[in-house]
Amino acid sequence: MRTDEQWKAVRSLLGPGFTGRRMKNTVDMFLECAKNLTKMLKRDGEEGKKGLDLSRYFSSFAFDVFASYGFGLEVSSMEDAENPFVKMANRIFCTESFNNPLITIALAFPEIASYVDMFPPDVNDFFVNTIKDIIDIRKQNLDAGTRKDYIDLILQAIEKLTGNEEYKQIGITPKLLREQLIFFFIVGYDSVKTAMSSTSYYFALHPDIQSQVRMEILDAIKETDGEIRHETLSKLPLFDACIAESMRLICPLNRLERVAKLDFHYKNIVIPKGAVIQIPLYALHREPEEFPDPEEWKPERFLEGNKTHDPYAYLPFGSGPRICIGQRLSQEIVHYAMVHILREMEIVRTPETPEKPEFHPGYRVAIQPINIVLGFRPLH
Ligand code: HEM
Repeated sequence: MRTDEQWKAVRSLLGPGFTGRRMKNTVDMFLECAKNLTKMLKRDGEEGKKGLDLSRYFSSFAFDVFASYGFGLEVSSMEDAENPFVKMANRIFCTESFNNPLITIALAFPEIASYVDMFPPDVNDFFVNTIKDIIDIRKQNLDAGTRKDYIDLILQAIEKLTGNEEYKQIGITPKLLREQLIFFFIVGYDSVKTAMSSTSYYFALHPDIQSQVRMEILDAIKETDGEIRHETLSKLPLFDACIAESMRLICPLNRLERVAKLDFHYKNIVIPKGAVIQIPLYALHREPEEFPDPEEWKPERFLEGNKTHDPYAYLPFGSGPRICIGQRLSQEIVHYAMVHILREMEIVRTPETPEKPEFHPGYRVAIQPINIVLGFRPLH
């Protein structure tokens, strides 16, 4: 885990890689993965009669997107479970890291954070070395710098490290940057998967709203001869509201953490310097004064003109200088995948669909629904 100084340096070195301009160039790749996902849901779904466990399908989708967008690797994780990259990644995503109590303790006691490994050491080494190999190959290729993926981003960042004493002193090394890439991969992958699962779940429970969103999508793509483009995504206010409301109820990251830099006085409370503040998003997003009928899925509360909540009462991507670096990227990915699914299929309940979602137990940072089983009925 990083110190405060390292965090600032990494953010300034890697942050610019997540701009909207960079994303425009990757539409084709997102669409390709979305098409594959839709194909698999159609193939396995028996016309909507068979309940499919979403975590399996959406994990594969998110995995393929990040392997391709991030590392330039073409992996079909659904069909290629024996691929070493897929196998190692599964060890991180399944249980080992998310259940590691040391990580939870490190988040509460930042003084020890720099001594804690985020991932099992052999998995960490596998990824750090794989990224190094990919970087070496990329350096020899003429297309270095043109793909605009994580590897290009890190190549540029490593160049900036050369001869820079300031970075050296605070311990920013090529290895640390490579480890940060793994971190990006993990948080991005898991959160995207959860956002897609929860939105699909609420669509299945609310078929009327699902139909309205489908109409909105079909209307928007009329202007582009049925093609989904980057611009299409800015013309879907009801769909945006549905995703926002789903992330209110099932917020992929469950808590924000901050450390007080000085003694802070608020009314008769003093937060002493060095104290760790944990902001529980699950509870905050259910504050009845901000969100009346907090347990109800009501996307209309996020439509323009209806928003009455305090902006600090809804923080799925955090806020301030540490706000999620991948917010725009993840919104694009979720939109492309869901627009594609809704255009082709109806998401329906099956006998296995739960009345209420359940989550992996424990004091986790990432909230992971476990039993979302839905049907996907082709529309044509
Ligand atoms: C639906 C998807 C996502 C959600 C809900 C989400 C949520 C969050 C939240 C709540 C934080 C903490 C912000 C804070 O403390 O104020 C965070 C941080 C972060 N997220 Fe995301 N995230 C998502 C997708 C992604 C993606 C796709 C990436 C990268 C590819 C990413 C990379 C990061 C990084 C690197 C940080 C740490 C930022 C820092 O400390 O400077 N996230 N995310």
